[in-house]
Amino acid sequence: MSEGYTVAVVGAGMVGDRIVAELRRRDFPLKELRVLARTARRETLAGEEFDVGVAEPGAFEGVDIAFFAGTEGEKGAAVQLADEAISRGAVVIDNGSDFRMDPEVPLVVPEVNADALEGHDGLIANANCSTTQMVVTLNPLAREFGLEKVVVSTYQAVSGSGRGGVEALEEGREGVYPKPIDRNAIPLIGGVGNDGYTTEETKMRLETRKIMGLPDLDVFATTVRIPVHTGHSESVYAELGRETTLEEVLEVFSSAPGVVFSGDAEGFPTPLEAAGDPGTFVGRVRVEGNVVQYWCVSDNLLKGAATNAVQIAEELVGVRV
Ligand SMILES: NC(=O)c1ccc[n+]([C@@H]2O[C@H](COP(=O)([O-])OP(=O)(O)OC[C@H]3O[C@@H](n4cnc5c(N)ncnc54)[C@H](OP(=O)(O)O)[C@@H]3O)[C@@H](O)[C@H]2O)c1
Repeated sequence: MSEGYTVAVVGAGMVGDRIVAELRRRDFPLKELRVLARTARRETLAGEEFDVGVAEPGAFEGVDIAFFAGTEGEKGAAVQLADEAISRGAVVIDNGSDFRMDPEVPLVVPEVNADALEGHDGLIANANCSTTQMVVTLNPLAREFGLEKVVVSTYQAVSGSGRGGVEALEEGREGVYPKPIDRNAIPLIGGVGNDGYTTEETKMRLETRKIMGLPDLDVFATTVRIPVHTGHSESVYAELGRETTLEEVLEVFSSAPGVVFSGDAEGFPTPLEAAGDPGTFVGRVRVEGNVVQYWCVSDNLLKGAATNAVQIAEELVGVRV
């Protein structure tokens, strides 16, 4: 389509800002770009000034693709407005967790399951940030060797909690985390379920199974918030379907889509280096029998949110950048 698409971004927070940046950087074919939030105002996103409109049903007239990056839950943007956007002809790509586990809604990380987009009903879910980077790195291993069990510990940045998280770290804002985040590590992300796992840990288990099409995969997660601005890190332990060698695993990582292999043991990636880059970085790879361990880092606002969402839109309209 030479004219491009009318696109709405709902939410002018950390993720909304990066969606605008990724649409521009990847040269997504745009006819019009609207930014919507709770209140109308003039605001700069990704260095560009917008007349932000109020997110209400009529604001979706004429919209082809609507990226939702508002808050979650009953009063959140997606629950309130996704149907309104779809009924006006838009395809909704939702960054929140409200619809991810709905069996009718594709949950998509394009490197892993772009084919799940076929037959969508107007609503597509973007995965949780910590899950996205993990499945980008696990999927090539699963394809080559099979995958039986995953144990992961995360080291998650405060921007994963939106503007409030950044304010908690930089300005000491209270009420965002259960304990101070500055000079600390908080092993509790979200509420705790009856099984003792937090919502973030349960998301990692259930979303990984859905995206990878492995409904019985054992996934054991411990998710931890640390005082890093942007970039989630993960220590991943994976039991494969067969024994392998370091050489074989490095070859798989080197050619895996979306994976940036950071070299041998000393070439480890860190969040400071990964922030601002859309790739998923892997380093510290160790192999013993059928066990692979590695360190994985990615920008939670980019591949963990905006880049993945824009990639989904590219798949939908058939453009690849
Ligand atoms: N941060 C991450 O790394 C990350 C990664 C993956 C997914 N996500 C998800 O992405 C979404 C946005 O996260 P964020 O980090 O960008 O949050 P954020 O920085 O707190 O920004 C939230 C934005 O959403 C807007 N908003 C809230 N409720 C709304 C509603 N009912 N209608 C319209 N706009 C509404 C707010 O509008 P006002 O400015 O007018 O108040 C604000 O601009 C969340 O669902 C989050 O879980 C975040």
